Formats: sequence, structure tokens, C-alpha cells
Amino acid sequence: MASQENRAQNCSVFPVLLPCFFYTILFITLHSLSLPTKALGQSPPFACDTAGNASLSSFGFCDTSKTLEARVADLVGRLTLPEKIGYLISGAASVSRLGIPKYEWWSEALHGVSYTGPGTRFSSVVPGATSFPQVITTAASFNTSLFEAIGKVVSSEARAMYNVGLAGLTYWSPNVNIFRDPRWGRGQETPGEDPLLASKYGSNYVKGLQQSDDPDPNKLKVAACCKHYTAYDVDNWKGVDRYTFNAVVSQQDLDDTFQPPFKSCVVDGNVASVMCSYNQVNGKPTCADSDLLSGVIRGDWKLNGYIVTDCDSIDVLFKSQHYTKTPEEAVAQSILAGVNLDCGYFLSQHTQGAVDKGLIKESDIDKAISYNFATLMRLGFFDGNPSKKPYGNLGPKDVCTPANQELALDAARQGIVLLQNTAKTLPFSATKIKSVAVIGPNANVTKTMIGNYEGTPCKYTTPLQGLAAYTSTTFQAGCSNVACATAQVDEAKQIASTADATILIVGADQSIEAESRDRVDLLLPGQQPLLVSEVANVSKGPVILVIMSGGGMDVTFAKNNDKIKSILWVGYPGEAGGAAIADIIFGAYNPCGRLPMTWYPQSYTDEVPMTNMNMRPNPATGYPGRSYRFYTGETVYNFGDGLSYSDFTHHLAKAPTEVSIPLQEIHECRSSTCKSVDAVGEHCQNLAFDVHLKVRNNGAMGGRHTIFLFSSPPSVHNSPRKHLLGFEKVFLHGKTERLVVFKVDACKHLSVVDEVGNRKVALGVHQLHIGDLKYSFNVRI
Ligand SMILES: *[C@@H]1O[C@H](CO)[C@@H](O)[C@H](O)[C@H]1NC(C)=O
Ligand SMILES: *[C@@H]1O[C@H](CO)[C@@H](O)[C@H](O)[C@H]1NC(C)=O
Ligand SMILES: *[C@@H]1O[C@H](CO)[C@@H](O)[C@H](O)[C@H]1NC(C)=O
Ligand SMILES: *[C@@H]1O[C@H](CO)[C@@H](O)[C@H](O)[C@H]1NC(C)=O
Repeated sequence: MASQENRAQNCSVFPVLLPCFFYTILFITLHSLSLPTKALGQSPPFACDTAGNASLSSFGFCDTSKTLEARVADLVGRLTLPEKIGYLISGAASVSRLGIPKYEWWSEALHGVSYTGPGTRFSSVVPGATSFPQVITTAASFNTSLFEAIGKVVSSEARAMYNVGLAGLTYWSPNVNIFRDPRWGRGQETPGEDPLLASKYGSNYVKGLQQSDDPDPNKLKVAACCKHYTAYDVDNWKGVDRYTFNAVVSQQDLDDTFQPPFKSCVVDGNVASVMCSYNQVNGKPTCADSDLLSGVIRGDWKLNGYIVTDCDSIDVLFKSQHYTKTPEEAVAQSILAGVNLDCGYFLSQHTQGAVDKGLIKESDIDKAISYNFATLMRLGFFDGNPSKKPYGNLGPKDVCTPANQELALDAARQGIVLLQNTAKTLPFSATKIKSVAVIGPNANVTKTMIGNYEGTPCKYTTPLQGLAAYTSTTFQAGCSNVACATAQVDEAKQIASTADATILIVGADQSIEAESRDRVDLLLPGQQPLLVSEVANVSKGPVILVIMSGGGMDVTFAKNNDKIKSILWVGYPGEAGGAAIADIIFGAYNPCGRLPMTWYPQSYTDEVPMTNMNMRPNPATGYPGRSYRFYTGETVYNFGDGLSYSDFTHHLAKAPTEVSIPLQEIHECRSSTCKSVDAVGEHCQNLAFDVHLKVRNNGAMGGRHTIFLFSSPPSVHNSPRKHLLGFEKVFLHGKTERLVVFKVDACKHLSVVDEVGNRKVALGVHQLHIGDLKYSFNVRI
């Protein structure tokens, strides 16, 4: 069952030019070969299992007393060229003469162990894993400890599944691309539009996945992978697809928007892998761009790990993009640019030819596979049977534990965003609201709640089931699916006109926004708006609108409808999403999520082609720019929006009146007027200061509150009108206050990227924004 699903998933990830049936056949073959041991959940053979075969101890690569470099060199030295080529691809072959089993590199764990990718599957031994909210929902929690806590649970479940032969050790998650355009079908997988949030999400989730209990800090629990590097955020929009799209990106946008999450993954998160994307950046496929791979990732950021291609990227750059004349040139350009591993088969088919033609040397291959082996060594893959190692005790009993499922529920509650709450209509009191009409195409959904790159969940609680735990419910879907070609309004109106309250649960699913499926508009699909308006009009009680979607929706019609008192956005809230929605509506949990992206009006899609990568507005053409950092036009909701049942206020207790940068006497800005100074150099030392805020919960109900520290720099270098310096989530009991301290490093946090990609601190008046509070101070030399 699960493997059926698995195959369908694999195919969807491959471009059309490699027919799905090819993979299906291959999968069946591999699958049936491994079935006897794996289906029973017995341990597969492990590399360097010296307990089972003493002669393996003579191999240097099995000797755990040697350094990692020495073990890798020993192993590479023993392999023939064809064997080495086998380690350039994700379906790595076995080398039985050395006792090395085959290894499938492709597993996924975007928000739980996933069945996407042939490395992982579910069976009767482990039928499901904890399915956390889709990433866009988790990002809305703005809780960095939550990001890490989820990663930690996911990697424990992954290890448990590995131990019974159901999963790999290398996970191609997270997706840290910036959610640049609201139409992007994969925006749901990302932490939103802000580079700081995306950086914090990526580095913390990676830490949660990777951090090992082993005393050796270089060991990995599982290996994460930040993808898709870089400027990848068009899937399939009006005939433009990701396999041929050339993202034209300015150096400034690249450095201050698209690259920061990847840099943070590598530098702060110490991620073990980066995946290059399908698209081109400024005319070059990213997987053949040595400046981006060898230059930036390995050179500047010092990746400790491997660079993998998106699936069949090298085939795509050759066949679809016609970037090279021959397949051998495609091989050479990718490997020489810095690719270490190919998701697919291209390198297994054409690398020997590239060597024969003299386009690459065997030593180039040695170098590439050394990174792959080093990663496997750090994972303990060459340390024999994992039963003895820190995770050897994990097994099926450690998957879907009550604690893990509770965290999935908590994550959903932390991420749900209350966008409107007229006259404090919510929370409902279960003693007053004795019946609710639950209406809408997403009102009783299961799989919709877990979004894409999902796994089989432990169990589901649908919204209807969640609400039924609080009060008596009636239910009408109102549409046969989210596309809602024809709304069935009569039955829905009927139940709404008699219930004490109406809860409409609408939105999207993977048929509207998905991988390879971008939207063309931002409205609720089909006749959903009609259903909402007609039901609202006849409802006896207050109407609550719940939007389940990855991307923002233009729901202006609902904001303007007096009958609709409250609006909630729940993203795709995961396996326990329905319980979380009900807990918030009935006040068992005080909402605290904040929007991780701008919600644009429908008109934005007419003004802005999805393919225009520019973040900054262009007054000459009327192009309005993108994200809260640059866009000043009309919005439906803003980045950071989100209400609570409590009311929080901020009071600035301490901030500098001025920051003085100690430039040397000979510095050019001493003698001439400068608008900004370099954000690196000796003058940047000791330029940190504290901002102290008193945050008060004026309400009676305890609640969580995210404090956003924004800054508006002086307007030089086309800088953002405002950008996030930091955020902090706190819990406050009712009628209490506490101090929150932000440490601000002037060069790191106040700086902006100039037109050619250098970081500069603007001189002049900077303004801090915290909620409604604004505070100005001067930065001078
Ligand atoms: C032990 O490992 C060696 C090297 O891989 C192999 O040649 C031999 O057949 C193995 N012996 C057994 C009993 O599996
Ligand atoms: C709601 O969905 C659940 C899970 O799919 C299903 O068992 C139940 O019958 C549905 N309820 C209604 C009223 O359709
Ligand atoms: C609302 O209901 C009234 C009658 O109850 C009807 O006249 C009116 O057209 C309805 N409006 C909408 C927008 O459905
Ligand atoms: C953040 O998430 C963690 C992990 O779930 C949780 O323990 C903590 O209470 C959350 N912080 C706030 C302020 O809600």
C-alpha cells in the first residue's frame, strides 16, 4: 500500500522527459529484491559489521580509531573507477567484495518522515510517522525552539525507521527558498518571505535533525539538506516551468534575499548538504555554476558535507536547457562546478565517457565521492550494526509516541493565525454555543491538512472531529471539492440558519497549489466565495471563517462582510490540525501565530508577472516590488499580522540615542561625506547594544506573544523600507509583564546590502519599530 503511494510520489518529482514507468519498473525490481528481509523488518546488512565478519576489520575504512579523512582515503583507494562512479548517484550500488551494502540517498523529512523518495517507506512494522504541520504553519509560530524540537522528533523517528530497514540517513529537507510570490505552489513548504525568519527556521530545524548524542561533535544523527539553491521559486506558471526558467536576479537581491537562508543553514546550522536547483540563475544552471557551488557554498561558507543535484538536474540542463552540446560536457561542468551527488542516473551513464574524453580526471571523481563518504562516515554508516550506537535502541515503539503527537498538536496551535476578531466574538464559550454548523470543502478533511512531502500520519483529527469534542455539530461540505465548480448552498444555508454559530472552513489543497502547480490568481477557488457569502447571510449566529491554505488568499469580500466576525488562517496544520483549530475557537488555547508572508490583493497578479524576480520596486515601470520589505501597495493582510485573545503592549526601557562608529583617522569617510560605511572591519568590533522592552499582557488570559524588532534604515542603496532585526516569542500570564532584551550588533543587524552585494551600515537616522512603538536614533562616525 505505502509503496504504491511511494511510487506515485517519486514520479511526480521527476521531469516529464524521464518517463514515470521507467522509475516504476526500477522501483519494483529493487523492491522485490529487498523484500524478504525488509518486509519482515529485520536488519539489513550493515557496512563494516565486523562482529558478523571478522575479516572486515582489516579494512582501514572500517577502523573507527582512524581519522575520518584517513578512513575516507582508504575506502576511495580501494575502489575501481566504475565502483567510484556508482557513488556519484543517489541509488548507490553495493560493493560486496568490501562488504558495503547499497545505499539509497533520497529520503525526505520536510515536516515528518515522508514517503516521498525511494529511501523511506512505511510498512506493517511502522505504519505511520508523526506528521507535523506544513512548514509555512510552523514558521508562523515564530518559535525557534519549536523549529528545533520538531527536527529532533523527526530525526528520532527517522533513526527508529532506519534501524528496521525502512528509512535512510540522508534527508533532503528543509526547503528554505524565499516565498517570493504568493502564487508559488511550493510556498507552503517554505518558512515564508522574510530572510531572517527563513534563516532561523532553516538553521534550527537542521540542528534538530542533525545534532547527535555522540560525544564526537562531527557525528550526525541524520544528515539534513537545504534546498533548492538558489533563487528557485517558479514551478509552473502560465507555461513557464522550473526546468527551463532562467531567474534573472540582481546581485543585491541575491545577497539580501535569496542567499541568507542558505548561508545560515551552512554557517549557523552546519548542514550536511545543499541541493542545487533546476532553474538557471542569470543564464547558468545552478548545478553547473562553480561560482555558486565551489565559490560560495564550499569556499565562502565552508560546507562540511555534500552538494546534491535536484532530481535529474544534470539531465535537465543538458536535454531541456541545451546548456552543453554533449552529455559528457554536462557531467564535467557539474562535477567541476562542485556537484558531488546526482539524484538520478545521469552521472552513472555518462561519467565514464567524460573521463574517456579527457573532460574530467579520476581524481575529480575521487574528490566528489570523498564528500559523500565523509557524510556516511559521520552518520555511522561504516561503523557496523547500529544496535550498539547512540540510536541503536530506537525502534517502532519510538514512532508516533503520545509525546511526539502532542508536539504536532502544539505546533499547530502555535502556528494558527487569528486575523480578525470583531467584538471579541472568539473564543466561543461551550456553555453558550451549544451547536455549530460546520461548513466548507475543508471542514472534514484529512490528507489536505498535511500538505505535500508528507508521510502516512499516525492518525488524523479533522476540524469537524475537533469541534465535535466541544459542542454538538452539523456538517455540510457545501462543495464536492476545493475547486468548488458548483456550490451546494441550500443544504449549507439550512444548517447555518438554525445553529448557534457557523464555522466555514474553506481554502485550497494540492489540486490548487502544489509542486509543478503555481496558481494564477489569489481568490478562494471556484464558488467558495459564493458559498461563504450566502451562508453568512442566513446564519443565525456569529460566522467564523477558517482558511486552510499554503499561500495567502484575497478574502477582502469576507473582511467586508459584517456577518463574518472572525477570520483564522491555519495553513496546512498537520495530523492534529482539527484539534488545534477547535482548541483555539473554544478558547482552550490563546492564538499566537503571525503571518510569515504578505497577503496581496488579486490585482497584484495582474500587475506583476510571477517571473519577475526583482524584490525592489521600479518607479519607472510601476513595478510594485515584493514582500513587506519593499512593497508599499495595498494588502489584504500584512507580514506579522496575528491577534490574540489578550492584549499586549510594549514599552521601550532602554535603547541607544546614538551609535558612533570608530573609524580610523585615515578612513576616507573622515575627510569626505559618506552615506554608509563597510559593515566589516575593525571598526565593527564592540558595536553591539541592547534594546530593552517591557512587554505587558493586559488581558486576563495567559498568552504567547511574538515581539518583532524591525528597523528602517536611512534610504541609501535602495535599502528595504523596513526589515526584521530580530524576533522573540514569550509566554505571559494575564496581567503580568516582563523584560525582553534584544542584542543588536550594528554591523550585522543594522547593515544593508548595497548594489554590488557588499554589506554597509547607513549613516544617519535609523528607526526601530516594535508594534506601534517607533524609536529613532542616529548612526554616525
Ligand atoms: C567477509 O567479508 C569479506 C570481505 O567483504 C568477504 O569476502 C567474505 O565473503 C565475508 N565472509 C562471510 C562469511 O560473509
Ligand atoms: C469526517 O471525516 C472522517 C475521516 O475521514 C470520517 O470518518 C467521517 O465519516 C466524516 N464525517 C462526516 C460527517 O462526513
Ligand atoms: C441575503 O438574504 C436576503 C434575504 O434574507 C436576500 O434578500 C439577499 O439578497 C441576501 N444577500 C446575499 C448577498 O446573499
Ligand atoms: C516554543 O516551543 C517550545 C517547544 O514546543 C515550547 O516548549 C515553548 O513553550 C514555546 N514558546 C512559547 C513562548 O510559546
